[in-house]
Amino acid sequence: MVRSNSMPEAWAKSLDLHLDLSGTRVRSALESALRDAIRDGRLHPGTRLPSSRALAADLGIARNTVAEVYSQLVAAGWLTAQTGAGTSVAAQAAAAGPAGSARTAAARQLRYDLRPGEPDVSSFPRREWLAAARKALAAAPDHVLGYGDPRGLPELRTALAEYLARARGVVTDPDRVLICSGYAAGLAAVSRALRASGARTVAVEEYGHRLHRDIITAQGLDLRLLPIDDRGAQAGDADAAVLTPAHQFPLGMTLDPRRRRAFTDRGAIVIEDDYDGEFRYDRQPVGAMQALAPDRVVYAGTASKSLAPGVRLAWLVVPPQLADGITAELTGGPSAIDQLTLAGFITHGEYDRHIRRVRLAYRRRRDRLVTALLGLGLELTGISAGLHAVVNIRTTQLSRLEARARDHGLALDTLAVYAARAVPDRSGLVIGYGHPPEHAYTTALARLCAVLAP
Ligand SMILES: Cc1ncc(COP(=O)(O)O)c(C=O)c1O
Repeated sequence: MVRSNSMPEAWAKSLDLHLDLSGTRVRSALESALRDAIRDGRLHPGTRLPSSRALAADLGIARNTVAEVYSQLVAAGWLTAQTGAGTSVAAQAAAAGPAGSARTAAARQLRYDLRPGEPDVSSFPRREWLAAARKALAAAPDHVLGYGDPRGLPELRTALAEYLARARGVVTDPDRVLICSGYAAGLAAVSRALRASGARTVAVEEYGHRLHRDIITAQGLDLRLLPIDDRGAQAGDADAAVLTPAHQFPLGMTLDPRRRRAFTDRGAIVIEDDYDGEFRYDRQPVGAMQALAPDRVVYAGTASKSLAPGVRLAWLVVPPQLADGITAELTGGPSAIDQLTLAGFITHGEYDRHIRRVRLAYRRRRDRLVTALLGLGLELTGISAGLHAVVNIRTTQLSRLEARARDHGLALDTLAVYAARAVPDRSGLVIGYGHPPEHAYTTALARLCAVLAP
């Protein structure tokens, strides 16, 4: 017998749930269909199930079969049964049973995430952002809600031109600012424009995000890898180069001033990924490399670290001769309402206030990390900046540490995750201290110390 039944009518109407009872053993098919529905989240904790009589009638199976399945799932912790209240999905149901254990193990594994990438999204300035959004939308003329300028709204381009000149030393005017929905989207547009203008090769630092390398090659460009030493990346032959001069990602050094010159003097286009330029803790941030050669450097900034990745707002400041070509390749920019909101946020000083606040919080987190590691005789490498740092650890010790981290429910990245090629004598962990939220950071640090303890 092969059955494939929908849930009973009345129940399906309110829950819109489909149970697939396929196979010859109805009892086990019903049991696993219910377990799957709970595990997948289609049946939420607390959801009341139909009586065994009603379900049996609707499925055309024996009532006893349903009753046995219910008792079995109650015994295993998936369901709860209370006299008079019927049978419901248990509060911790998704964690029950063998499949649930695997899920719990995975959740435990990621419970404390010290991988680099995200800022503390719990510190997103919701109230201020909401107020700015309300104000921006109330004041916006209707035409703002049309398709608009593919470069982005002039309000945001003007606000960013002023902010970037002031805070990062970028040489620009609003006409050279382009808005995109994330650095990755901007990089794709620049890569396409470069390819269309005849470029064939792009140099990237030998450590960086694989996603970014993939974006470049997906546009038909060949990669050249730039070796990195204490002074940052070494210039090499290519039609363009993508660099993280303020804070190499992930190794953490700044690009030496002579190296900066070496890149800009070559005449090739440089794409400057200034992903965390606002977060420098030891002294005044080194200004953007773009100021050295505004006609050859594409400056790229993003709100992914300063506000939150979910905001999906980023910006490019482009050399005039590339502006049209890159604009033509920009697709699907961010919402006009979000652009207006960020414009107001910047011009009313909220952005600066937020940066100052989170900069202090991240600086404290970094200090705590430094102190904790010093207690173990370990040191962070790289400048005091950003939301991540590297601790050098020998390759031979890494797999043991990775296993220990898993046991402690700690997600960690090794340097190898970001390597475009194996580099002898470079191995370690890349620790992201921008998250978890403040209340969980203490435990995350304690677990890190337990993992790294000799
Ligand atoms: C090196 C680097 N560049 C850029 C970004 C920003 O990427 P996006 O704006 O696409 O979120 C990140 C984000 O984590 C990053 O680590």
